Parts: sequence; C-alpha cells; structure tokens
Amino acid sequence: MSALIACFVVPALFAMPAALADPVMAGPGAPVNLRCEYLTNPLGIDVTQPRFAWVLGDSERGQTQSAYQVLVATSAENLSHDQGDAWSSGKVASDDSTQVAYAGKALESGYRYYWKVRTWDKGGAASAYSQPAWFEMGLLSPSDWKGQWIGGANQLRTEFNLAGPVARARATIAGIGYYELHINGARIGSSVLDPAWTTYDKRVLYATHDVTPYVQSGANAIGVMLGQGWFASRALRFQLDVELADGRHFQVQSNTSWMARDGPVVSDSVYDGEVYDARLEEPGWDRSGFQNIGWRAAESVPGPKGVLSAEMMPPIRNVDTLVPLAMKNPKPGVYVYDMGQNMSGWAELRVRGPRGAAVKMRFAELTYDDGMINRDNIRAAKASDTYILRGEGEEVYEPHFTYHGFRYVEVTGYPGTPSLDSIRGRVVHSAVEPVGGFVASKQILNQMQRLIRWSQLTNLFGIPTDCDQRDERQGWMGDAQVTAEEAMMNFDMAAFYTNFVRDIRDVQASDGTITDTVPHRYGSRPADPAWGTAFPLLCWYMWQQYGDRRILEENYESLKKYVEFLRSRAPDNVLRYSYYGDWVAIEHTPGELVSDAYYYYDVEILRDVAGILGKSADSRAYAQLADQVRAAFNQTFLDAKTGNYANGTQTADALALFLGLVPDDHRGAVAGHLTDDITYGHNTHVTTGFIGVKALMPALTQIGRADLAYELAVQTTYPSWGFMVENGATTLWELWENKRGPSMNSHDHAMFGSVGAWFYNALAGINLGADGAGYRHIRIEPQVVEDLHWASATVETIRGTVSSSWTHSPGEITLDVTIPVNSDAKVVVPKEEEMSSVTIFEGDRIVWQNGQFVPGDPGVTGASAAHGDFTFEVGSGHYAFRLTEELKGEGGG
Ligand code: BGC
Repeated sequence: MSALIACFVVPALFAMPAALADPVMAGPGAPVNLRCEYLTNPLGIDVTQPRFAWVLGDSERGQTQSAYQVLVATSAENLSHDQGDAWSSGKVASDDSTQVAYAGKALESGYRYYWKVRTWDKGGAASAYSQPAWFEMGLLSPSDWKGQWIGGANQLRTEFNLAGPVARARATIAGIGYYELHINGARIGSSVLDPAWTTYDKRVLYATHDVTPYVQSGANAIGVMLGQGWFASRALRFQLDVELADGRHFQVQSNTSWMARDGPVVSDSVYDGEVYDARLEEPGWDRSGFQNIGWRAAESVPGPKGVLSAEMMPPIRNVDTLVPLAMKNPKPGVYVYDMGQNMSGWAELRVRGPRGAAVKMRFAELTYDDGMINRDNIRAAKASDTYILRGEGEEVYEPHFTYHGFRYVEVTGYPGTPSLDSIRGRVVHSAVEPVGGFVASKQILNQMQRLIRWSQLTNLFGIPTDCDQRDERQGWMGDAQVTAEEAMMNFDMAAFYTNFVRDIRDVQASDGTITDTVPHRYGSRPADPAWGTAFPLLCWYMWQQYGDRRILEENYESLKKYVEFLRSRAPDNVLRYSYYGDWVAIEHTPGELVSDAYYYYDVEILRDVAGILGKSADSRAYAQLADQVRAAFNQTFLDAKTGNYANGTQTADALALFLGLVPDDHRGAVAGHLTDDITYGHNTHVTTGFIGVKALMPALTQIGRADLAYELAVQTTYPSWGFMVENGATTLWELWENKRGPSMNSHDHAMFGSVGAWFYNALAGINLGADGAGYRHIRIEPQVVEDLHWASATVETIRGTVSSSWTHSPGEITLDVTIPVNSDAKVVVPKEEEMSSVTIFEGDRIVWQNGQFVPGDPGVTGASAAHGDFTFEVGSGHYAFRLTEELKGEGGG
C-alpha cells in the first residue's frame, strides 16, 4: 500500500462480530433471484435458447455449487409436479450459476414457460427447488406478424367484439417513433418513450404487454397515439392475441380498417418539446361506441425496412417525482421553478383557467443572475412544452413524446398565479436497477458519486446518450465506452448493453467500419478509433462483469472485421486517423497517439476473445499483431531519453501505462514523468480530456500512486470534479471549465464519471480476479489512502453480493468483505508502511502472526505476504479482517 501515517500500538477496543461459519447440516438454501436473459420473468422475448441465472443465497463460508438441475415446463402445474416437459437439464455437474442456456424442445411463439432450479453444494447435498419463475416468448418469426404497418395521423383506433370471457390477452406493438397504447380507456404499461431508438433500417423493437385485465367479453376498443421520436416518422404495427375462456382464439391486427385522426398532440419533437391542445381531445376515443366523426381510414405505410426484435431491456420509465425547491417570479408573468437537481424528463403541470389559455414551459439547466433561465448552452433545442387548456376544472398535463434535460422550468402564460404545487419534476430514463453503492469518509467523494449516478441515469434513453438537454442526445460511442465500467458497478446494465452491442453491430458496414454515434446520426463513418472501441470493449466488459460468452460468440466475426478494417488503415502498424482524440482536454495530446493506443487495445481484446472462444490460430495471430502494434507505438511515440510519450501530456503517458504499452525498462521513467507532471507541472490537477482521465486513475493506481489519484479525485479547484461540486453542479459537466454561454458546455454529460469505476476498484477494492469473468474469482484490494478513514462499497453482481469496507485508524486497519457462494477471492489486507510486524485477526481468530499464516479459520484457505501487504485466499462468506501492530502476549486462534 502507499504512504500511510505513523502508527501507534492500539489494543483492540471492541470485539469483532463472530464469523458466520457454522457448518450447515441441511442442504443449501434454494436458489434465488432467478433471471432469464438478465431479466426477471420477461414477457415477449425472442431468444430461442434463453440463458438462465440464479444466485445462491447462502452466507456459508467456502461453499460452492457442485451441480444444478433446471426444469422448464409448459405449465405452472407441470412445474409444480417437477415435470420439465419442455426441458430437464438433468443433474449437471457444474459450478455454472449464470449463462446456463436452454437446451430443450423448440420454444414456441407466444407461449409462457415456467422454470425452476435446484443445486447441489460441494458436499453433494441438494437444495430445495427455487420458487418458480417464467419467461414468455414473443413473436419468433416474421410470419407471426399478421398486422400491417399503418399510419396516416398521430392517433389510430379500432373496435372489436369478443364472444365470451377472456382467459389471456397479449398486445404486441411496434409503434415508431414513440407510441402510447390505450385499451378500453386505460393507458397500457408503465413504459414511456417506447420503443427504444434503433437503426430502423436494420431493426425495430417491439414490446409485448399482458392486457388480459383490459379486454372484456363484448365490445372493446384500442387507441394508439404515435409520436415522431428520433427520426420524425410515425408508423404502427400491432396485434392483439386473445384466448377466450372456452379456448377459442381471436386476433386483432393493425390494418386499413383502423381509423386515423390527428389528436391533441399538435406537434412533438424530442428536442423541441410538445404542444398539446386539450381542446382537441375527444373523450372516449379509446373506448368502444365512439363515433368516428372526422376520422378517416388509416393508411397502409411502407414501414421501416428492419426486422422486428423484442425489446429485451428495462424500458424508459418515469422513475421518480421531484418537488421543486423554490418558485421565483423574476419578471411579471414569468415563474421559474428550481427542481434542485439537474434531471431528465419533464414537468407535470397543474392548472385551472379559461378554455384556450396557453401555458408554456421552457426548460433550462442554468439561470442568469436575475433569476431568468439561461438556455444559451442548449443550442437549437427549443425544449419547450405548451399546454392549451380545455377550460374545465383542474387540468393535469404531462407531455407524451418528448423529454428534456433541466433543473429549471420557466412557466409563462399561467392563468392567475401558480404555486409551488403547480409543477412537479418527472424523472425519466431507462429504468435500470441500482446494483452498487459506494461511500467514503470524505464528503467530496460522496458528492461526486451522487453526480456520477445522476449523470449516468439521465443519459440512458434506450441507448447511452452523451447529454440530455441540447440538440444532440446521441449514442456517442466514446462517451459510452468510458462510462460503461462505472455504469456496470452502479446499475444492472446487462440487458441494456446486450441491446446496445446489437445496435452497434447493426451499423457495421461490409467493410467492417462502424460509426461515431449509434444509431448513426452525428459524427462519421468510420468512427474515431477511440469511439469505435465501444464495440470490442462493451463485449469485453459484458464478458468480465457477467461472464457473457454468448456476446463474444455472436460478435466475434464482426469484431474481427472491425479490427481488420483498422489494420487496413495502419499499414505500418500505426493507426493515425483521428477526429476527436482526447476530447475536451486542457492540454492537447496528438490524436494519432490516442487512436493508435486504442487500436492496440482493440487488437488485445480480440486476441483475448479468440483465446476464450478457443480460436487458437486467431489468438496467436492477434497476439503477434498486438506485439507489432506495441513495438510500432513505442518507436513512433516514445522518447526514450525523457520517458515522454509524444508531447508528454498526462493523457499520452497514462494511456501508454494503462494499456501496458510501455516497455518494462521505461516504466519507471514514464511513471516518474507522469507523476511529476501532475504534482509539479500542474499543482496536482488533471490536464486530460475524457479519454485520458479514464486511463489516468487506474494508471496511477497500477504504478503504486493511488494516493496521487486520490488527490486528483478530491481536488476542488479547477480543473477537477470537485470544482464542479463546489460550483453547485448536480450532474457532471461536459467541460472542466464552468462555462454557461452559447458554446458547447452541457451541464449533464456522463463521460467524466468514469472515475466512478475507480471508486469501486481502487478505493473500495472490488475487482475481478484473474480469469474471474462474472465474479467467479474476485480480488479485493483496497487502496487505503492516508486522508481517508474509511470507504465502503457493495455490488450485487451476477453471482450475488460482493462487498468491501475498510476502516483505518492509527495502528489498525479493518477490512470486511462479502464473497458470494460459488465464488472465491483473494483479499489483500494492506499494512501501514511503518508497521514492522503485525497480527491479523479474522473475527476473533488470529490468521496471521509472527510473519506466518495461521490456518484454521473456516473459509480462509491460505495467505501470503508480498510488498508489505497480506493476501488471504478465501471462499464464499463474510469475513472481518483486522490488522494491528503485533500484539505482545495476546493469544488467539
Ligand atoms: C458530444 C461528446 C462526443 C463528441 C465527439 C460532442 O458533441 O457531446 O460527448 O463524444 O461530440 O467529439
């Protein structure tokens, strides 16, 4: 560990909690948290060999799974009788508890399958079966789609009759840009801004809704509102499959017998907002018996060219509601609400007033000194919603097909005087589940963590976006790749990135090129290499975090094509083309160095992926290419005399160190140059852009200077994250500078949040072990930096809870860790440099004394000392380590 303060011998002041080490006599507990394709009980999936995952909930030490059995049944009843009539895996001797692929009878469109799993522990004792879970298939083949693409207006409707009570009803809908589905007067589902944006020429996502409670015997009606979405196009493909109680089937399809008429959404645009004229509402339009006056036949439209695929990720939802902190009245008739938080979504408006009165809401991240909103930084986005009153009692409005990034809402045209209660902030984004938490004794870190989480979430809208407020909001791949690790530690991103990787593959051309943004709207083809890296890197992170081998298999040929394209641009093994380089840097680094470093990264990833997939010839070939690229990189950019890469910026040196490009005999010099540049050259400040800083923090940690990375992390003067916090940021800025004028300066960009991964990996110490994909093997190695008294993190990984919490007081370090059943870990307990000899307890047992491992503690299988730290090998369970100066005369064991 790095520099620590002088130590004092302090006797143990309190007893550590007893270890949870009782031997379990009965079998293991039943598996919990059953997931299928990373989702809990997913409705409407189209993966024909879905993968199962479960978590072994026990806290027993040193426990593993020796075998499992999965049953998949066609009915809940069959499953309850342990009949896997679709698939019984049999007892499979394996420690796999994730990525177990279905291998039974062909799964059929529209069917629900029920599954459960039991496991055997390392001693051969069987668990009970888990609680049942299910998954339901969507429409698996194009011929299952009977409905046509229709359009003609932004509202479409139809009516139908059912000759008896309903047993089951499923609505399958692809409504682009966005849709809102209503049946018999009810809005269906909790998703908004659905479907997620894709490259429509390649793929359109559809959703399946269980609408059994909404359809009824007799007359029924369906109404669909359509929004313009990203590509300003509206079309609907729909079908409703009903099974009546008597077993008869009935289907409603979108076709030209539907009726169309423009409704109250007068205009809608992702960037500009919505105009809603409530006078145009036609009550009952989504109920039966409605008179279609003024409605005309829906038109058959060509529809997008892409295939229809199931949307298999958390939908965009309104996940929270914020009450404004304050309402100000900076000018007559102008009211400015402060949500207290830069957020993504919209405002809910409550208003009473005369028919035809128009209330306008304009959204902004900033205000001027006079209290008026400042929208200089949102460029051409009009970010404005207008509600025109119908004039009856209290009216409540939320827009349907737009969203904004904002902290402030300006309200004008309000009849009378609004109150604080007239506006609520609706927080909207892809509803990924939180899985991680990090907290430490230094407040600025916790404030940064808060900003990182908000910035990440507010930039998840079916794709990872760069920003949420201005006329951009694109899937910029550079931003996606630098934030992905942080996102995966904080949130369950498995299904989201599975979808996004497919989105990336969808933009790949036959020459292997991909694009700067996905879907491709901004930027170039071929992508800047540091942006294009999102393709291999996201696949790689999916492998690391979730053990996802399938994503490697499915994308292998495409990744190879991509790398081969890069190779075609690097005949002398140096990839030079670059557009953005270390974007938004303070000190410029040559773009060609950045591109070339990322080329090396991509080749290395491909080499490793080939190795994992057993493609040994490819693995050897890419290993050789990596060596050549590395050699050429050093020949081109390394100044062997000074230990500088290129112009010696922090980014240049950090990228080379982080990616392992530096020849061993130059590592010391490069590391020295980098740390000098930070400490003496820039008074402990960063000079990087967002590409460089992703490499900088882990590079400093790798060279044993986590203390310096920490000083950068807690810096509060410009340029630093703390500078943003100190200047009132509630989400991360696009620039290190606090700009607020009409230039490029979003106040909600996630990309500087890459430091969030470092919080978990370095400060809390949660890492994958060697070959530990999917947390099979874990490495807990916290960086106990001098200024921190404690740090703590927990991640709900695909295999269960991993946590690491440490405290540091003079003469004592404690480290509590949790390792899930079926995983193991190396736990590095750091020591203060000045401590000469130490005793290490685990719970109330001594596990290290007199320079030696003391065996006998359940779950702790070995220990070694190196570089002043102690590494314990442990199995699953909770462990409480405590390191003190050698305690004379104290017994233990
Ligand atoms: C985006 C960035 C993006 C960049 C490409 C900007 O407009 O907001 O975050 O990566 O363009 O250089």
